[in-house]
Amino acid sequence: MMKIYNNYSLLPHNTFGIETTAATFVDFSSVDALKQYLAEGFKGHPLVIGGGSNLLFTGDYDGTVFHSSIKGIEITAETHSHILLRVGSGVNWDELVAFTVEKGWCGLENLSAIPGEVGASAVQNVGAYGVEAGELIEKVEAVAIADAADRAFTHDECCFAYRDSIFKNTEKGKNIITYVTFRLAKEAAFKLSYGNLAEKVEELGGATLANVRRAVCEIRAAKLPNPSDIGSAGSFFMNPVVPAEMASSLKSEYPSMPQYPAGDGFVKISAGWLIEQCGWKQTPHPHVGVYEKQALVVVNRGGATGIEVMEFATAVVESVKEKFGITLHMEVNVIS
Ligand code: EPU
Repeated sequence: MMKIYNNYSLLPHNTFGIETTAATFVDFSSVDALKQYLAEGFKGHPLVIGGGSNLLFTGDYDGTVFHSSIKGIEITAETHSHILLRVGSGVNWDELVAFTVEKGWCGLENLSAIPGEVGASAVQNVGAYGVEAGELIEKVEAVAIADAADRAFTHDECCFAYRDSIFKNTEKGKNIITYVTFRLAKEAAFKLSYGNLAEKVEELGGATLANVRRAVCEIRAAKLPNPSDIGSAGSFFMNPVVPAEMASSLKSEYPSMPQYPAGDGFVKISAGWLIEQCGWKQTPHPHVGVYEKQALVVVNRGGATGIEVMEFATAVVESVKEKFGITLHMEVNVIS
């Protein structure tokens, strides 16, 4: 139910492949065990991690790292059109997606092959190919670190936005997520308008849940590094959102700049394109670089330290600012 380690290597727990240790590592597989541990007067410096696919450690962690191994996927409600699926925060994200696709439940298929675990999907509001996890999240259950009390957040209370939620803002560092409930449709309503997804699905024989999943997996495999081969944390930066006026003057100067509508008066610009235009795909560096097929992904070419990655990232941000006047913000959670 609960495993506690001291001076624990975090190498298997961060997809960037940074060598670092946690003073204490607590792996729990039940809510009761977690509550008991916290209620015994936990006072340490807490950090909650999932699959470690969105973290960058810049040194050893001098506190307590919590990791959920709560498993289980259960239907908690069902109507003629939808099901509510309550999933343990320690369930591997892609195993959940594969399971729902196999069952014929619609909603998560565009989010195939994203590394990480279910708890973190709610914090980060993971998104890909025109879908964000938050759209499908009905409820998040958690335990408060301060007093081991049960907490529950409705969809609205989670305040989901692009790669953002209440768990990155006012609730940051206060809770340990235990279960996430997803609302999935029994009838498929495919979302295929992102990039070449529709074309790829057609090539595979048309729109079925399995074909959408396969298409997404293939597109991702062609563009993004596999964390088991090359260390990275996926997109290192968020795509910047700028006022429409600024976007249109940039577009007249750089007609090939990819831009997407981002709500009233705002436009989202592709950070990968901006970084590529600054020449980073060609920059040799022994330990750190951007991935040759997707410049938004910073990679550990082997033996990089977290500090080296941060120095590299700072240089990338400065170059984009200088060339385009846009400040990139990190998507990755830097832990120092
Ligand atoms: N582009 C370039 N050069 C590059 C990378 C991208 O010109 O090196 C251009 C592409 O040609 C395309 C546009 O930029 O026109 C957008 O590229 P892509 O479709 O790869 O998506 P992205 O905006 O770079 C976002 C997410 C990804 C997600 C994809 C697909 C963020 C920060 N990243 O990337 O998420 O898989 O869309 O939906 O929003 C992640 O969060 O870790 C992640 C991989």
